[in-house]
Amino acid sequence: MKPKTPLLFLLLLLLLSTTTTTTTPPPTPSPISSPTSSPSTLDPKQLSALHALGLSTTLDPCSNPSPHNNATSCDSSRPFRHLLSLHLSNCSSDLSDLPISALRSLSTLTSLSFSNCPLPSPRLLPSSLSLSLHSFSCSSSLHHLSSLFLSRLHNLSYLSVLNVPISGSGVAIITSHMPHLISLTLSHTNLSSILPHHWHPLHLSHIDLSSNQLKGHIPSSLSLLSSLKSLNLTSNSLHGLLPDSLADLISLRNISLSHNSFSGPIPDSLSSLSSLVHLDLSSNQFNGTLPTFFSAMKNLKYLNLENNNFHGVIPYNASFIKRLQVFKVGGNSNLCYNHSLLSSKLELGIARCDRYGLPVSPPPDKSSDYSGDDEDDGGSSEDRRKSHGGHHSGPSKLVLGVAIALSCLVFSVVFIVCLSKVCGCR
Ligand SMILES: *[C@@H]1O[C@H](CO)[C@@H](O)[C@H](O)[C@H]1NC(C)=O
Ligand SMILES: *[C@@H]1O[C@H](CO)[C@@H](O)[C@H](O)[C@H]1NC(C)=O
Ligand SMILES: *[C@@H]1O[C@H](CO)[C@@H](O)[C@H](O)[C@H]1NC(C)=O
Ligand SMILES: *[C@@H]1O[C@H](CO)[C@@H](O)[C@H](O)[C@H]1NC(C)=O
Ligand SMILES: *[C@@H]1O[C@H](CO)[C@@H](O)[C@H](O)[C@H]1NC(C)=O
Ligand SMILES: *[C@@H]1O[C@H](CO)[C@@H](O)[C@H](O)[C@H]1NC(C)=O
Ligand SMILES: *[C@@H]1O[C@H](CO)[C@@H](O)[C@H](O)[C@H]1NC(C)=O
Ligand SMILES: *[C@@H]1O[C@H](CO)[C@@H](O)[C@H](O)[C@H]1NC(C)=O
Ligand SMILES: *[C@@H]1O[C@H](CO)[C@@H](O)[C@H](O)[C@H]1NC(C)=O
Repeated sequence: MKPKTPLLFLLLLLLLSTTTTTTTPPPTPSPISSPTSSPSTLDPKQLSALHALGLSTTLDPCSNPSPHNNATSCDSSRPFRHLLSLHLSNCSSDLSDLPISALRSLSTLTSLSFSNCPLPSPRLLPSSLSLSLHSFSCSSSLHHLSSLFLSRLHNLSYLSVLNVPISGSGVAIITSHMPHLISLTLSHTNLSSILPHHWHPLHLSHIDLSSNQLKGHIPSSLSLLSSLKSLNLTSNSLHGLLPDSLADLISLRNISLSHNSFSGPIPDSLSSLSSLVHLDLSSNQFNGTLPTFFSAMKNLKYLNLENNNFHGVIPYNASFIKRLQVFKVGGNSNLCYNHSLLSSKLELGIARCDRYGLPVSPPPDKSSDYSGDDEDDGGSSEDRRKSHGGHHSGPSKLVLGVAIALSCLVFSVVFIVCLSKVCGCR
């Protein structure tokens, strides 16, 4: 009750000072706050564990709605309830590390997450907690994690590590004993292994291994992941051809392979990925011509093929390109568009084709290769072309002006000479 009295006083002052204005009155403390003084229903051991983890326990962690931004949730067992989930975020700096003894009493947790809790991490979680977890997430927290730490979480369905360096042997070690995994995110983790060749294929539907230093090829065994909906391998050091077997992943909706060193053509077999929504192959060394089958993909919204080595005439019409939210093909110097089918107002960032299907001129500046995602009326391109025209007519006007001035000068000299001669004769 103590901290409430000065607060109330302040509120009163505020109300008094703002009576002339029409602001709505600030909410007054509601009478519902009284139940908080009732004893917590949480297992006392877990209550003190929360305390040791720096979580204030003045409000019952099992109350509904949960205090501290949903930091906790509990089961409904009696006489004491137990914690099911714990989300530690924005940890106070008073907490110097994660007390292992506290973690040991939390083995009823199925979900544990850290965000912005830069603490030293324990080498391993207590094994009972390791096995009870179905969901583990760690974002910009715990100075670093080891592959071993993660690999012991055998019962996970959901694993997400974001912005935390992971040391040790790599992705395969981490996931090989997680048969229930549904969603795997290891992003910005400094992992430098190859991609696993063996997966537990049944449930995995989301893989995000973006922004690491992963090496090697996409293994064809990836095609066994029949539930896979999204695959993000952006910003790694992967290379090689796309395996034809990628086409077996018929549930795939999102593929991001940008910023790697993949090469070769887009395989024709990809045409069977009819659910595709998002395809990003940008900033690789893909080559060959663009396949026509993309225009038959009804759900496609995002197609980014920029900064590759594609060549030839773009085989898409304006209605397809306008249907997409994003369509990017810039940065492919041998790619061009058919002027009689596509308007320059689409600003595709590539040159127009000559009649042999080759680019007529060097493509416009990189700065103009944004496309598709702006529903602009193309005014800017009109302006650009106008300014180009102006630039073109500039020198010719100058030449004309100089010519007129010169001829005037010559004419007047001749006139004066003639005049003086006529005068001299007389
Ligand atoms: C708190 O968690 C519940 C159930 O998990 C969820 O429905 C609710 O939206 C969450 N509230 C906030 C503010 O995150
Ligand atoms: C943690 O801090 C961030 C930024 O200060 C804030 O946006 C977020 O809501 C905080 N989270 C919680 C659970 O308090
Ligand atoms: C692992 O999870 C399953 C359900 O997904 C559960 O039945 C099993 O008891 C869990 N194992 C452990 C050791 O908690
Ligand atoms: C990232 O990995 C490299 C070796 O692959 C290592 O030298 C470096 O210290 C790691 N960085 C961090 C932040 O752990
Ligand atoms: C893939 O990962 C990158 C980097 O983390 C991110 O910017 C991008 O949005 C992701 N792509 C998809 C489709 O989620
Ligand atoms: C898939 O791509 C869509 C469209 O670009 C995006 O809105 C969505 O967040 C992506 N989903 C996943 C799981 O990456
Ligand atoms: C594509 O690049 C590969 C080398 O990465 C080369 O062998 C092949 O001939 C190229 N294909 C075309 C059509 O340029
Ligand atoms: C554009 O291409 C699609 C697919 O090739 C086709 O179904 C559609 O009729 C074409 N639209 C126009 C206006 O030519
Ligand atoms: C451009 O399209 C027109 C009309 O469909 C066609 O006659 C012409 O051959 C095409 N040009 C190229 C280079 O494909």
